[in-house]
Amino acid sequence: MTERTISINYQEYGSIEELNEEDRELARAAVQAMGRAYAPYSHFHVGAAVRLSDGTIVPGANQENAAYPSGLCAERTAMFAASAAYPDLDMVSIAVAGGASGLLDHIPATPCGACRQVMAQYQHKSGKPMSILLVAAKQVLKFEKVDDILPFIFKSI
Ligand code: THU
Repeated sequence: MTERTISINYQEYGSIEELNEEDRELARAAVQAMGRAYAPYSHFHVGAAVRLSDGTIVPGANQENAAYPSGLCAERTAMFAASAAYPDLDMVSIAVAGGASGLLDHIPATPCGACRQVMAQYQHKSGKPMSILLVAAKQVLKFEKVDDILPFIFKSI
């Protein structure tokens, strides 16, 4: 038996303002997309924004349903909307912002496992790293690739 450790690299910023221009634009789009959430049950509003290889930004927001599992997270609404509207473009990055009652949290909302798996799929499809920005009022975390938030990614092909 061999005991092994994996480490994850990520960058931590004190605010959206510290990001480079492209990331700042995407982070702001995610915060803005929080306003599109339909969350009558949890009242937790999440916005996401996907940047495509031609610079297009596609927003998404969580959509809840009386039959709970029928709802969907912000990240997947954004990625599925992006893939359905622009199937030939790569997703180069995704930003996520969330907070109770539509107010941006101080600590980032982190994507659920299912959303990470969907990110992994589109990253695999593009063949290039997809970066992830987790945006909060006083902290922004940046991961260079999906592998950094989903170690041991399942790949069937
Ligand atoms: N949610 C997201 O949209 N993304 C996340 O990263 C975490 C959770 C949504 C699902 C549900 O509508 C609400 O937040 C509360 O869990």
